Amino acid sequence: DVSDPSLLKASSAIFASAILSVFPMAITLGLEIKAFKCKDIKHGDYQCNLAMPLYQKLKAAGIPLPHGVDSPQKVAQLIIDEILDQDEESNPVLCDLSVNGPGFIMSRIKASYLSNGVNCIIREGAPSMPKTCGGGRSSSSSSNTTTTTTTDATNNSNSDNTVVVDFSSPNIAKEMHVGHLRSTIIGEAVCRILEYTGSNVLRVNHVGDWGTQFGMLIQYLKEEYPDFAAAGQSDGNNDANMPNITDLTLFYKNAKSRFDESPEFKKISQLNVVKLQAGDPECQRIWQVLCDISRREFEKVYNRLDITVEECGESFYNDKIPAVIDEFVDRGMISVEEGGAKCVFVPKFKVPLMLQKSDGGYGYDSTDMAAIKYRLHTVKASHLVYITDFTQGDHFQMVFAAAKKIGWVNDDSHRLDHIGFGTVQGEDGKRFKTRSGDTVRLVDLLDEAVSRMESSLKERIAEGRANISEEEVHETASAMGYGAVKYFDLRRNPTSNYIFSYDRMLDTKGNTAIYLLYAHARLESIITKGKADHGIDIDALIREGKAQIVLAHKSERNLGLHLQCFADSIEETLKDLYPYHICDFLYELSIAASEFVTQCKVLGSPEMESRLLLCRATAITMRQCFDLLGIRHVMRI
Ligand code: ARG
Repeated sequence: DVSDPSLLKASSAIFASAILSVFPMAITLGLEIKAFKCKDIKHGDYQCNLAMPLYQKLKAAGIPLPHGVDSPQKVAQLIIDEILDQDEESNPVLCDLSVNGPGFIMSRIKASYLSNGVNCIIREGAPSMPKTCGGGRSSSSSSNTTTTTTTDATNNSNSDNTVVVDFSSPNIAKEMHVGHLRSTIIGEAVCRILEYTGSNVLRVNHVGDWGTQFGMLIQYLKEEYPDFAAAGQSDGNNDANMPNITDLTLFYKNAKSRFDESPEFKKISQLNVVKLQAGDPECQRIWQVLCDISRREFEKVYNRLDITVEECGESFYNDKIPAVIDEFVDRGMISVEEGGAKCVFVPKFKVPLMLQKSDGGYGYDSTDMAAIKYRLHTVKASHLVYITDFTQGDHFQMVFAAAKKIGWVNDDSHRLDHIGFGTVQGEDGKRFKTRSGDTVRLVDLLDEAVSRMESSLKERIAEGRANISEEEVHETASAMGYGAVKYFDLRRNPTSNYIFSYDRMLDTKGNTAIYLLYAHARLESIITKGKADHGIDIDALIREGKAQIVLAHKSERNLGLHLQCFADSIEETLKDLYPYHICDFLYELSIAASEFVTQCKVLGSPEMESRLLLCRATAITMRQCFDLLGIRHVMRI
């Protein structure tokens, strides 16, 4: 479809129609007709590499070629001639076509197409989203009419398209650590991207509130803090006797060592788990208190980072597990191990999933099997996403395989994804720890990022280089500090490990949130100056429908081309759900923007109006990306 906001699709469509009109029999040859973005912009914008395989296949199939066409280059030339014959309506996209090397077809994007694209961003106040997600470009570029397309993603949401994203998922009574930070950051971005593209997203916090750790915690509290265990009322933070998360972590440590040392303690603890899971009131009460303490701590992190996630922890599935086990039993899929544990074997894995332990208790596997059934059949989600560290990869492959084996999954309509991320390391390359060897508290880490940012902003103010006042420092520093932590994670393939470094994530140069946020603020500050010093009010121009961008200079054109790649970066992201595609797009966009503002005089130039508008189109697109990544933007720094 030549009107697709995806440049890849629009240009592919033009190559396809030309190829099929010159070689109608190409359709029978099983070739996929696709365009690619050129690696080096010097040679072209988009290219099609099909002439070579097409020539080979036509020859092999004995299909006669037109007279004189005896090489892939000549096939390429025929395709080009066909495209050049097409009128503006059939080909609004490609120009400057040429044959390169053994038969590559190189092309440029028409200037009119690019300027239509940027004018559309200004008109709509948003970049064009992919057509597959309900986007599309209003066909006429007449600037007087009101907008005809909607960019509001909620209008495109399709109720059949429910996605459950299981992310963050910390464990009760343990501190949230950097691993959970990764899951939280990646998960929030994945949710935002899916929501933007029209999915109905359920954000699920599969909190570890039901594990064997509760048996020992309950026992430890009963023994060491009988009063607390007996009263066990949680009535908020002001209760002085109420332990906080740090106490809880200590309880956990102590309980754990007692559990490892004393067989007796171990035995009672294990019994407590069974009692808790069977609904024993005392155990339930203590458990509730423990959960509340942790929950309050998790909330702090979520509030700071603008995370929205609905708690639906392991305990929620407790009463759904027996029926799931029965279903496996009925289907003859259970093998009972020595001791009585009930297991399910799936293809390719030597170890089984354990649906019930020999003592009758349920574990991580039991819960996840009940949860996957619930999400597929009760929630009726068509897409499930789980975001955890990579070491749980096998666990999820087994859960998926078991769900398929028992027939819960329809291969045509269900999609199951596990995003397994790597480890966060300290500067020493080992797992990220504090100096004393403890896990780093998430809240401390976030505070540190903000406080470093505050110092650097205050320095700027003192040097007279800032556009903000002292009062605005904290808010700006928070946006930048949290943004920096998030972006440092999101900009890479999640499967990779990374070294946590404040210096690198807070760097004003390179691929960091700080660089990008400055780049964005710089564009907005040019716009502000345009109005204040030169009397050009682009907001008024936009309102009155008088905004027109002309891309004349090379760097203007290049920026226009980059802006046009937004839809493709979204489509790319939807394939593997890795937000780094959007980061790559954003970073390249801001490099193109910075080239534009250094090479083209904006303020006081004859082209000022158009150039200010180009700044705005870029800022709008950058803001959309920040928003998708869960990063707060700032208009001034
Ligand atoms: N609580 C687990 C952990 O800290 C993550 C849970 C992930 N979700 C799930 N459905 N198993 O590793």
